[in-house]
Amino acid sequence: MSYHSTVQDVYRKAAETPDASLCCVPQTQRYVPGLVIPSIMHQMNYGCGTTVHSQDMTADQRVIYVGVGGGLEALQLAYFTRHPGGVIAVDPVAEMRDVARVNLEKAAEVNDWFDPSFVDIRDGDALNLPVDDGVADVAAQNCLFNIFKTAGDEGDGDLEQALAEMHRVLKPAGRLVMSDPIATRPIPAHLRDDEVLRALCISGCLEYHDYLAKIVDAGFGSIEVRSRRPYRMLDRARYGLDEDLLLETVEVCAYHVAAADDGPCIFTGRYAIYTGGEEAFDDGLGHVLVRDIPLPVCDKTAGALGRLGREDLTVSPSTWHYAGGGCC
Ligand SMILES: C[S@@+](CC[C@H](N)C(=O)[O-])C[C@H]1O[C@@H](n2cnc3c(N)ncnc32)[C@H](O)[C@@H]1O
Repeated sequence: MSYHSTVQDVYRKAAETPDASLCCVPQTQRYVPGLVIPSIMHQMNYGCGTTVHSQDMTADQRVIYVGVGGGLEALQLAYFTRHPGGVIAVDPVAEMRDVARVNLEKAAEVNDWFDPSFVDIRDGDALNLPVDDGVADVAAQNCLFNIFKTAGDEGDGDLEQALAEMHRVLKPAGRLVMSDPIATRPIPAHLRDDEVLRALCISGCLEYHDYLAKIVDAGFGSIEVRSRRPYRMLDRARYGLDEDLLLETVEVCAYHVAAADDGPCIFTGRYAIYTGGEEAFDDGLGHVLVRDIPLPVCDKTAGALGRLGREDLTVSPSTWHYAGGGCC
């Protein structure tokens, strides 16, 4: 049995018997005016963060959402798009698609603005999306891609294929929005090879730099790290480890743009502040720092400015919270 079958079994059961503690951490419910979320959708929140950020959303967009779960994020995204088929949600597990449809019907009963036709739920797979090239403004997935195996060590290359599919369906400059667990050090083989733990979003994830590198390699030239925080501890007693291993959740938005000649721009919440004697400092590479006004900078620019060694230039460390604007 391939690990895909194990994954589908896990989510077939999760569709039939909602389990609030299935794979991910409990999350605070967010209030959005005029959006009522049926409680079953919260119970079936099988994500580890969020992919719904108002700054990505405008009406009339087309969103591709991969791995529908109980339909929570499909509903939240449809809140912004509000037109038939505005959100296409793809899932290979029939039971999950069925329960998401039922949940969206329930949502329609308590939200005047919502019609279930706003979410087009399709049978399909992240590795071969049932969607034409270049149609999506936003492509999103929450807590699915960490399950996929990578090329090389693990052999399958499913993660690379899933990212290539997201790149294919996005319009130029479109946004790939993802939330996934990451590991603070490599996860040992005895856990990575455990298909059930992998399906439960516990043992398949990559380290931070490797996760970002996969996104860059898929053709996304600019990435925003919007959040990074503890997700779960793999403790040594239960997981057969020498030391406890912390997993984190990372939320990213990656843009379907080419990387600059000197490499991708990765924003991690770093700022540069100029406090010298002039009104502004111009590094001659397109970055103008107005005195006393913090400028969000990508890691590449942060490194270059830091290397100038100027006392009137301060570059702050990553906050893992990027709130827009910036150098590139
Ligand atoms: C961890 S759950 C996340 C559900 C949802 N994104 C959420 O945040 O609640 C993974 C979801 O991906 C679906 N899934 C499993 N394998 C898949 C695949 N190869 N392609 C697309 N979806 C898949 C599962 O049925 C399930 O709905």
